[in-house]
Amino acid sequence: MHTTEATGSKQSAAPTSCKALAKWVSDVAAMTEPAAVHWCDGSSEEYERICAELVESGTFTPLSPERRPGSFLARSDPSDVARVEDRTFICSEREDEAGPTNNWRDPAEMRATLTELFTGSMAGRTMYVVPFSMGPIGSDKSHLGVQLTDSPYVAASMRIMTRMGSQALAEIERRDAFVPCLHSVGAPLADGQEDVSWPCDADNKWIVHFPASREIWSYGSGYGGNALLGKKCFALRIASVMAREEGWLAEHMLILKLTSPEGKVKYVTGAFPSACGKTNLAMLVPTLPGWKVETIGDDIAWMKFGEDGRLYAINPEAGFFGVAPGTNERTNPNAMKTLRDQTIFTNCALTDDGDVWWEGMTEQPPAHLIDWHGNDWTPGSDVPAAHPNARFTVSAAQNPAAAPEWQDPRGVPIDAILFGGRREGVVPLVREAFDWEHGVFLGSIMSSETTAAAAGAVGKLRHDPFAMLPFCGYHMADYFAHWLEIGGATDAAKLPRIYYVNWFRKDAEGRFLWPGYGENSRVLEWICRRCDDEADARETPIGLVPTVEALNTEGLSIDREQLEQLLAVDPQAWSKELPAIHQHFARFGARLPQQLRDQLARLEQRLKEA
Ligand code: OXD
Ligand code: MN
Repeated sequence: MHTTEATGSKQSAAPTSCKALAKWVSDVAAMTEPAAVHWCDGSSEEYERICAELVESGTFTPLSPERRPGSFLARSDPSDVARVEDRTFICSEREDEAGPTNNWRDPAEMRATLTELFTGSMAGRTMYVVPFSMGPIGSDKSHLGVQLTDSPYVAASMRIMTRMGSQALAEIERRDAFVPCLHSVGAPLADGQEDVSWPCDADNKWIVHFPASREIWSYGSGYGGNALLGKKCFALRIASVMAREEGWLAEHMLILKLTSPEGKVKYVTGAFPSACGKTNLAMLVPTLPGWKVETIGDDIAWMKFGEDGRLYAINPEAGFFGVAPGTNERTNPNAMKTLRDQTIFTNCALTDDGDVWWEGMTEQPPAHLIDWHGNDWTPGSDVPAAHPNARFTVSAAQNPAAAPEWQDPRGVPIDAILFGGRREGVVPLVREAFDWEHGVFLGSIMSSETTAAAAGAVGKLRHDPFAMLPFCGYHMADYFAHWLEIGGATDAAKLPRIYYVNWFRKDAEGRFLWPGYGENSRVLEWICRRCDDEADARETPIGLVPTVEALNTEGLSIDREQLEQLLAVDPQAWSKELPAIHQHFARFGARLPQQLRDQLARLEQRLKEA
């Protein structure tokens, strides 16, 4: 632990041999004028001290040691509850490098704007220096960062979400490389000014990326996706740029391990838009006898080629920052076990016995709660008790379903990649791509109904290619081209097979056709068997769909008609999707890879002939 008063000449030498880091910390301290600078060592004593300070300042409410040991509840400012996509910027040198799906500003102008905002922005606060590793420390697939933040909530959360502290700092010194991640909640304190429990700048948020210099600046928000800079900002937006340059993939994907009753192991990654059930799928308890599902990661996968020409994935994160509402003993029993203790909850409701509650946790809500605004709440109220994007932050090591190799520095070889979204109609339960290029096409036309993970309307259909719409750090058409290139970089037989799933199809009465959750293991089984060429599929214009018999429905109460509806491919309904796909592709202009144009033309042709 190393804390110094940061005023004027009292600043002592930085506890690092990395000169670039020492200089950056000192330059930022001179600009932001914090009252103190604290270098995080990542120890449990340090974590406990920061949590105690957060209790003292009113940011954290400690939960009952009997009900939820070592856990805390934070209530955010009502303006600071989700990612702010319209305030997120990719400041590449040229606008066309950011592409039509990103907000762009000239980097020099943006630097000037940010410098003004950050000048004095940490006054009255401690600036935490948070060295971290994305991925196991020492893995050749890991990358390093340092976050400077004036938020103790962020410093504590970073200890859960990343490998943070002295070991990461030693690795930074060894490699002499790190991604600088600068964060301020944008709420300087004047002398004697009393703090609020969730400092932020309600109307002035900036989540900014400089891909050329691989830098992140985030101002005004304390919300995870905006403020825990290792996650979306580094591990996706900046890493996607690094991955393109270096020939690998940085993806918004879960990673899971499947073991069949015969003991055959398959590793699968899956891209789904935010709040579409990635965490539930990553922790799934299979209903199929003899099958085992274990978690490697729930949100981000970095995939690099191994010497054998296969793609190996690591989870760069060390914790889960998951959506709480809807999580319960039925939908995700492993998450419920993971959250039993040592968890930071944000914007959940507080029970009278000092525990948390959220919509969907139990069928009946408790008779009285304190809602996420801090107000009394009783059942029947017309506002939810927990915010729909209420979150838990918890170490991945607490997951009882963690695969033993979840921290293996070599990563795990990927057999299949899933794409999926939330679609009420048209899209069948599962289909297999004809080949890699067709799979890239399927990823490029992914669409989903929007959720509460981002500020804005919920339930609106939007194209979200590869679930990367808010997370790709460069031109999306170049990103598609990169995926196509990855497919050409190894033998086709060594590439993962690609699947597109949709758990959310509904019947004419608006009821879900598929029970989902643990029953999704039936779809995973079909996928595993397909990878071994052991399961049947029928060819349709949109891909290879299981025959009704090929899907294992033993023990599931679902009738044949329902199953047929789930697996139906209606050429007419698909033809109605085509104008929207054309419109989506048109955004990318001439930069869209010709292969994807051809794929669309072939899809149209197949639909016509069907
Ligand atoms: C997340 C998100 O928090 O995608 O994982 O918003
Ligand atoms: Mn996510």
